[in-house]
Amino acid sequence: MVEVRTAHTGELDATTLEAARALLDGVFRGEMSDHDWEHALGGVHALAWEGAELVGHASLVQRRLLHRGRALRTGYVEGVGVRADRRGRGHAGAMMGALEHVLRRAYDLGALGATDEAAEFYEGRGWKRWEGPTSALTPVGVARTEDDDGGVYVLALAAPLDLAAELTCDWRDGDVW
Ligand SMILES: CC(C)(COP(=O)(O)OP(=O)(O)OC[C@H]1O[C@@H](n2cnc3c(N)ncnc32)[C@H](O)[C@@H]1OP(=O)(O)O)[C@@H](O)C(=O)NCCC(=O)NCCS
Repeated sequence: MVEVRTAHTGELDATTLEAARALLDGVFRGEMSDHDWEHALGGVHALAWEGAELVGHASLVQRRLLHRGRALRTGYVEGVGVRADRRGRGHAGAMMGALEHVLRRAYDLGALGATDEAAEFYEGRGWKRWEGPTSALTPVGVARTEDDDGGVYVLALAAPLDLAAELTCDWRDGDVW
């Protein structure tokens, strides 16, 4: 039996946060940097529990994405992963469902940077690939992020979007998207 529970970072104890970090280290085979982990903190986590064992994690943090002159309040999905031996059982779908519920009620836009492996998973849930150029609002101005073009997915909510126009993310350490 797997149960998906949501909680803000501030409601999770150190042991649970350590278990989530360890889970993602395993899922991303050691390629989860400290910055990547930090990006997943400060918002709402969806945790998939099999009894006392954590088998899945995803989180939703607030960012500002600039699009057509507006700074959209964006729920940004981070740290999506299910333990390799527990995949294909609907756990990621259940976690995303919980986060999309929050997204629909609290944000103008949903966004995430997808791995190649997971792109179809998000498309199947109604997320759309951003077709236009991506960029970031760096401390020295807007800079193109060509390497991220084609890897950003959005869930259209209240804000009108032109998927072919530019999408600019706010600044942060590590990978900006
Ligand atoms: C992507 C990932 C989170 C999916 O987890 P999961 O628990 O196996 O996914 P689910 O069982 O909930 O799948 C839900 C649906 O998406 C589909 N799906 C899942 N992974 C998919 C994939 N890689 N490609 C295509 N479809 C996929 C399933 O077939 C299922 O479809 P259905 O509802 O029509 O049956 C998991 O494979 C994973 O942890 N991958 C490695 C880390 C990663 O890439 N994370 C994404 C970061 S952006």
